[in-house]
This record gives sequence, C-alpha cells and structure tokens, in this order.
Amino acid sequence: MIVTIASQKGGVGKSTVAMNLALGVAGLKKKYTVALLDADQQKSCYETLQNHRKTNLSIHEAAEKPHRIIEQLDQQIIFIDTPPHSHEIIYQAAAVSDIVLIPLQPSPLDIRGVAKTVKALTIIQEKMNPELQCRFLINRITPRTILANEIRSALQKYYPFPILKCMLHNREAYKQSLITGTSVMEYNRSSLAAQEMEQLLIEIAKMLKLKRMKK
Ligand SMILES: Nc1ncnc2c1ncn2[C@@H]1O[C@H](COP(=O)(O)OP(=O)(O)OP(=O)(O)O)[C@@H](O)[C@H]1O
Ligand SMILES: [Mg+2]
Repeated sequence: MIVTIASQKGGVGKSTVAMNLALGVAGLKKKYTVALLDADQQKSCYETLQNHRKTNLSIHEAAEKPHRIIEQLDQQIIFIDTPPHSHEIIYQAAAVSDIVLIPLQPSPLDIRGVAKTVKALTIIQEKMNPELQCRFLINRITPRTILANEIRSALQKYYPFPILKCMLHNREAYKQSLITGTSVMEYNRSSLAAQEMEQLLIEIAKMLKLKRMKK
C-alpha cells in the first residue's frame, strides 16, 4: 500500500502530513511495517525523523527515482513525501501509489496553485494508474473561520477529486511535536491537533482497508 503526498505548490504541509501519518500508522496497535520515502532534496522528513524511536518505521532518502527504491522495500505501508515544483517525481510516485493526498491551505491562491498538480494526476489516472485515488486535504485552517466551507465549494466546482472530510487546523503543535521527532499524537495525546490527526488516520485507514489487510 503506497500513499503519496504531493503538490507542486511549496509550503502547503506535505512533509508535516507525511511525517505525522507515517508515525501515526507505525504507532497503531497492530504493528504494521511502515516506510517513509523522502523524495525531496530538502530532506525535511529524513532529517527531522533521524532520531525517531519506532522500530517498525524506516525513513529513506529517495530524491531520485523513488519508484525504483520502492521495488526494494517490503514494508506493508509506504508513504512518499514529494518536493514542490517537480513534475517528474510526482509522476514516478503517483504511478505506483494507491492514494495521493494533495494538501492545500484555505486560500484562493492555493486553489489556483493546485491546478498543475491536478492535471498531472489526472493524466496518471488515465494513462498509467486507473486505480489511483486522489484526495484534497485542507490544511492550516484558522480555527473559527468559515473560509474552509468556501474553499470546499470552490475545490468541488473546479476539480474532479473528492476532499477528505477531515481538515487540519493551523496549530503550533504541528511545529513543536516535530522538534522532538514525534507525531502530534505522541506529543500530546489530548490536544486538538492529535484529535484531528487521529481522524485523518481513520479516514486513510478506511481507504486502505487496513483492518482487513494481511501480509
Ligand atoms: N497544520 C499546521 N499548523 C501549523 N503549522 C503548519 C501546519 N502544517 C504545516 N505547517 C508549517 O508550515 C511550514 C511548511 O510545512 P511543510 O514543510 O510540511 O510543507 P511542504 O509542503 O512540505 O513544503 P515544501 O513544498 O517546501 O516541501 C512548516 O513550517 C510547518 O511546520
Ligand atoms: Mg516538504
């Protein structure tokens, strides 16, 4: 099972989401083996999680040809964090993925900024990977604003991909937790960030049919 986090727009939360999902799935009671591929030369995930303590999670540098590195892995669930501004890596990763998550922030600029990524993914679905499921993930909402609803309507109007029910808010916990290389769930189990990340995990786990998954 392969989940890629992609957007050609920079700074939308790809690495933050990739790290929290990889740590989150590795932290589930059923000990899935998990790999996180960092396909970005910035190495955000690789360097941030250097000292993580999960024995069932491995982090790999994969700035070139991530699809080839995947061929050598036997982990049950693989997450791929992709760089901004790269068509090629998105094509390579999405072509072998089950799900692509497209984080974006609730701003008209981000809605326009995601157009190229959507086009690339649509081509991959048509030509290479018809089973690929693509989902928008709204990130960094300011709590108590209604902008998120407007963003949802605009995304539905202009683009063919569904939007995940779960939305992530702009919260310090996403930054603080990664200072210690932990997910928001481990950092503070009862925080609002932990609760929404758990909802996201449940939504992704359902898409991946994790409960029924056997290796
Ligand atoms: N929900 C959130 N709440 C608060 N801060 C966030 C949230 N999501 C991301 N950030 C912060 O936004 C910045 C960009 O996030 P991140 O590096 O994950 O984005 P990215 O899409 O991977 O960027 P790039 O395109 O450069 O790889 C980081 O400082 C991160 O801590
Ligand atoms: Mg990144």
